Amino acid sequence: MTIGSTDNHDNGSPLADTPLPGATPLLEVNNLRAYIGTARGTVRAVDDVSLSLQTGQALGIVGESGSGKSVMARAIMGLMPPRSARSGEVTFQGRDLLALKKKEKLEVWGKQIAMVFQDPGRSLNPVVRVERQLTEGMRKHLGIGRSEATGRALQLLQEVGVPDPQRRLRNYPHEMSGGMRQRVMIAIALACEPDLLIADEPTTALDVTIQRQILDLLRRVQKERDMGMMLISHDLAVVAGRTDRVSVMYAGRLAEVGATRTVFDSPMHRYTHALLGATPTIDHTRHAPLRVISGSLPDPTSPPQGCRFASRCEHAQSDCLTPGPVLESVGADHEVACLHPVAPHPVKTLTLSGR
Ligand SMILES: Nc1ncnc2c1ncn2[C@@H]1O[C@H](COP(=O)(O)OP(=O)(O)OP(=O)(O)O)[C@@H](O)[C@H]1O
Ligand SMILES: [Mg+2]
Repeated sequence: MTIGSTDNHDNGSPLADTPLPGATPLLEVNNLRAYIGTARGTVRAVDDVSLSLQTGQALGIVGESGSGKSVMARAIMGLMPPRSARSGEVTFQGRDLLALKKKEKLEVWGKQIAMVFQDPGRSLNPVVRVERQLTEGMRKHLGIGRSEATGRALQLLQEVGVPDPQRRLRNYPHEMSGGMRQRVMIAIALACEPDLLIADEPTTALDVTIQRQILDLLRRVQKERDMGMMLISHDLAVVAGRTDRVSVMYAGRLAEVGATRTVFDSPMHRYTHALLGATPTIDHTRHAPLRVISGSLPDPTSPPQGCRFASRCEHAQSDCLTPGPVLESVGADHEVACLHPVAPHPVKTLTLSGR
């Protein structure tokens, strides 16, 4: 399958995340498309997304279920499902990730870029004990011996809140709960001290208290190690307070990007605004009742030419049905792809209370 270039109403903009002067982006994604062939047609899961992430920066990716967050993360890593196609550019520390040979990929994955997958059950090898899964990468990538690797593994398990780590090292994945497996996945991802961590809903299997602990741990480690982190969640409260910048994704495209504080304090895309109003733990309008965004995502096999949120938007007008809109700058580190955005308002009521 090839991805045609007929759909040229760019939504992503290479300027979306304008780097600080002099800073080389750790990760740069330009015009990424990831299409998946299915029995019901070609799903345009990611449809022209551009973003960049600086060293030591945490970027949140938020959006409703089905908006394309996981497919985007996997496409960046070169992990595409069968019958799929990908186009665009992905550069990591200036290297073209999409052009890597298999051997080069193995060097980059795990060592320089690590990923925590949404489904920890499927990411761990069921027939290999935790110890080997944790130490193998360290021995290979960090060139350390077995006992040193085991020592580090114990420390990592402790860091991610695994009780009795000695015993856990001898476990097979099926001997642990979903939450425990998720923590092991996070420990494996951090083991080789990657430059970039892509964490896709890293705490879904955990209860709220543990979720907060793990998310705060990720943020702390990210800052301490000056690591880049892409934190993906459908829950805005997860990325609030734990990311420097955020990209709001809707139906395969970016609706709004910018400094997390700015986007959450003063959302301008109608979708971001609605999403914040539907998030119980972010007190966006404080006295307003919690609202639900009515309607559903457009059919990903035939998305509309115009704004993909238009059919659900109370403020849509006839021009919203024309091709576009594209991300446009509305202020310092703030871009919005909306023809009739929310008027910027002075910040007064927002409280970010990350879970
Ligand atoms: N392997 C696949 N085969 C076919 N379609 C897929 C596949 N994986 C994802 N999709 C489709 O791609 C679109 C984007 O899915 P994706 O999993 O990226 O959403 P998401 O934003 O990660 O959602 P969630 O918050 O539920 O994890 C959806 O329409 C989904 O049905
Ligand atoms: Mg997902």
